Amino acid sequence: MSQEINSRIVGASPVGARDTESAGKAVREMFTSIAPRYDLVNHVLSFNTDRFWWWRAARTFDSILKRPDAQVLDLCCGTGDMTLALRRRASSGPQIIGADFSHAMLQRAAVKGRETTLRWIEADALRLPFPDGHFDLVTAAFGFRNLADYDAGLCELVRVLRPGGQCGILDFGEPRGLLGKVYRIYFKRVLPALGTVISGVEGPYKYLPASVERFPPPYEMLERMRQAGFREASWRPYTFGVAGLYRGIKEGQKL
Ligand SMILES: C[S@@+](CC[C@H](N)C(=O)[O-])C[C@H]1O[C@@H](n2cnc3c(N)ncnc32)[C@H](O)[C@@H]1O
Repeated sequence: MSQEINSRIVGASPVGARDTESAGKAVREMFTSIAPRYDLVNHVLSFNTDRFWWWRAARTFDSILKRPDAQVLDLCCGTGDMTLALRRRASSGPQIIGADFSHAMLQRAAVKGRETTLRWIEADALRLPFPDGHFDLVTAAFGFRNLADYDAGLCELVRVLRPGGQCGILDFGEPRGLLGKVYRIYFKRVLPALGTVISGVEGPYKYLPASVERFPPPYEMLERMRQAGFREASWRPYTFGVAGLYRGIKEGQKL
């Protein structure tokens, strides 16, 4: 059954954004400003759970990653941890590309991946420099939520996937119940303060909880995925819903 989509929410809206163009610019500048400390802050604030989430998400796509001819794209790859998790699960064959629009984040990814065959490309997820139907798998970890236009992002994902290709979007969620209440105190009060101190940058770690609050809830995100052209859209909560993995298969048979 089709459920309601909140049409007022187009995409991320960081401070200073007036339209999708300025929202994208503000997001890129924000991640560039925290790039030097990004990994450290991530691991501290998530108590290293981020490593488990990347591993778990990558493992989900083993059947594609074990194919030597697979073409894989990790969007919004940042400093490359999800891309490296995919590489570790893959057989030696697949071509795996990490793409991000922040040069500073990509530079760090390239250093971490220097002993691998991974390729890194500076590109905007809303205007990807790849032909239609190119990839068997497209992933995005904690990046999709930052896109200035979620539906445009999903359409671009669909465009670059082959018919029958899969997408995996790993992102934060909002756990419910008592745990949710405790978690919200941590996420909205403790995390922004700690993140600001460790990164030395005011702003990005206040934007994080605001961006999660703004992100469509699972039922709505799944409906947006279906409307963009994914079948078998699903969401699996990780760690009581603190994070979760959206999956979908592009309509059509593999050619
Ligand atoms: C929270 S970080 C996630 C990085 C990495 N995937 C991880 O799991 O740690 C979000 C990343 O998305 C990138 N990003 C946001 N919007 C983007 C866009 N429109 N095109 C490309 N990259 C984008 C940012 O530059 C940033 O590196």
